[in-house]
Amino acid sequence: MFTPQPIGSVFSPYKDAAAIPKGLGAEHQAEGVLNILPEFEPGLADIEGFSHLFVIWVFDRSNGFDLIGKPPTDSMAHGVFATRSPRRPNPIGLTVVELLRREGGALHVRGLDMLDGTPILDIKPYMSSIPAETLRRGWLAEAEARKP
Ligand SMILES: C[S@@+](CC[C@H](N)C(=O)[O-])C[C@H]1O[C@@H](n2cnc3c(N)ncnc32)[C@H](O)[C@@H]1O
Repeated sequence: MFTPQPIGSVFSPYKDAAAIPKGLGAEHQAEGVLNILPEFEPGLADIEGFSHLFVIWVFDRSNGFDLIGKPPTDSMAHGVFATRSPRRPNPIGLTVVELLRREGGALHVRGLDMLDGTPILDIKPYMSSIPAETLRRGWLAEAEARKP
């Protein structure tokens, strides 16, 4: 194993988790900045060519975990690894953001769902070769179908 070392932090408009959109149909359009520490900035070379990025980050304001829990998107409980709950054994978040522009170590992005000051562990270019028609969305599709 290794000791995770943040490569930067998120400047987000969300100071309070209650302000972050949740539940079925929630859209994440919030803009902010991924501020990468100067010592890691050379690692951003060539990132501008990618429209979207995976951001891997820490739920630093989450304590403990629940193996079974009820997400805000459903009235039924599910296993933590079938959800995006912040209360997980390893408190790691994953968000896909749109890269708007880069200014040195500052990546201006859209699509944030994390709190201001959230530590960033890693960034990778978004890519998927899985055709949309082969994706199954499990309980989430069922919850959407039940929605009045
Ligand atoms: C449902 S999680 C999904 C996060 C990410 N997209 C994922 O799938 O890992 C998003 C929620 O995590 C919580 N959250 C955001 N930033 C956090 C932080 N730094 N520490 C603890 N909880 C946080 C907020 O309640 C937010 O609505």
